[in-house]
Amino acid sequence: MPEQLSVAVIGAGMAGRSHAAGYRMVNTVFGEGLPPIRLAAIADANTALAEDGARRYGYEKALPSWEAVAEDPSIDAVSIVVGNALHRPIAEALVAAGKHVLCEKPLAGSMEDGRAMVELERTADVVTAVGYTFRRSPPIAAIRDHVRNGELGEMTLFNGRYWCDYACDPGGPLSWRFRGAPGSGALGDIGAHVIDVAEYICGPIVSVSGGALSTQIPKRPLPLGAVVGHGAAPVSSEVGEVENEDTAMFSARFASGLEASFSVSRTAFGMPNGLAFDVYGLGGRASFDWHRPAEYLFDDTQPEARTRGVRQVIVGPQMPYFRGGYPMEAPGVGIGNQEDFIYQCRAFLDQIAGTPDPLPANATFADALHTMGIIEAIVRSAQSDGAAVPVAADAAGAAAPTNPA
Ligand SMILES: NC(=O)c1ccc[n+]([C@@H]2O[C@H](COP(=O)([O-])OP(=O)(O)OC[C@H]3O[C@@H](n4cnc5c(N)ncnc54)[C@H](O)[C@@H]3O)[C@@H](O)[C@H]2O)c1
Repeated sequence: MPEQLSVAVIGAGMAGRSHAAGYRMVNTVFGEGLPPIRLAAIADANTALAEDGARRYGYEKALPSWEAVAEDPSIDAVSIVVGNALHRPIAEALVAAGKHVLCEKPLAGSMEDGRAMVELERTADVVTAVGYTFRRSPPIAAIRDHVRNGELGEMTLFNGRYWCDYACDPGGPLSWRFRGAPGSGALGDIGAHVIDVAEYICGPIVSVSGGALSTQIPKRPLPLGAVVGHGAAPVSSEVGEVENEDTAMFSARFASGLEASFSVSRTAFGMPNGLAFDVYGLGGRASFDWHRPAEYLFDDTQPEARTRGVRQVIVGPQMPYFRGGYPMEAPGVGIGNQEDFIYQCRAFLDQIAGTPDPLPANATFADALHTMGIIEAIVRSAQSDGAAVPVAADAAGAAAPTNPA
């Protein structure tokens, strides 16, 4: 095991800060195991943001470019947390420099880039991983265990949605999120998460149908300065084209034969971060809504029971990822999104360090190409009046790892 691991984060925007905060905490969760972590650098083209991130999260230095991270021989492991079109060139430079890479979802800005990254992974001598944070939400992991243990009986239906409202304001700036081919809008940004959650719970998706994409706000004002996350920014009177979808619907078939329906939107008013799903079987059901992240609904009562109906299951140490992960290990204390980033960073560094009792590994680049292959199939379905489209064979995907107790 290395004596120390030096980490850096590229991108100090909305999700970059979550990675930066995550690495700070990796040695406080799930027992012993990792060597000391050196918080080496945060890089962002927006230097004020990089400096603020380095100060707030205790990193040694702020760097003005991702190239500076690739060139620093003291850095071992790096998170890529910038717009999707930059993922491939940055990953290529980091792997060439011998650094381990944790890349944000979606894998890349295009299938071509995604395929090149999988090729890179095939020959790489370093860990290459993609973060799907929701996998480590205790209630989502608990529902997966119910399904995988057969507690809902034979599966009958999955309905997933990710409804957000960050694009409802037509005066919001034309950031990188609105640039790129169809599939890179709501589907790549938030659809990738709910697709991964569905597969994490129910296994691989093999085909899609009923694809329908729409863009409610076709033009947006150009930003005059930096845009962070979904935030507002000063804008010009000049407008540019929104190149990708605000909203998408589709159906999907899992390898098991289970059918699913999905809807994804960034223009769903009043839904700040609405990832939610229901999963049904012949003998039970479970439902989750990220707006109530510390609980899920469960029902396996039989029809004759006088108290038939769903019950609220409150987060606690009986769920995967809770015991050993939450500082206050008591039922009902609530949970947040940041813990999932800590566990993601921890799983990445566990894999690098070869710790004896690692967290389940993050997705690989190949797994994340599979998500992109599903999105590509949805776009093709939409372009052919909702026809059924198989997921590309080279985007076959791998089995999701088992949850820790
Ligand atoms: N897992 C999650 O829950 C989650 C949430 C949000 C975003 N994401 C993913 O994280 C990535 C970043 O999203 P975000 O919302 O943080 O974006 P963001 O726009 O808030 O931040 C991106 C940052 O990249 C910087 N940047 C741009 N070009 C650069 C360059 N050449 N060199 C260095 N820095 C550069 C920008 O200045 C900006 O600060 C995306 O891939 C997105 O899909 C994941």
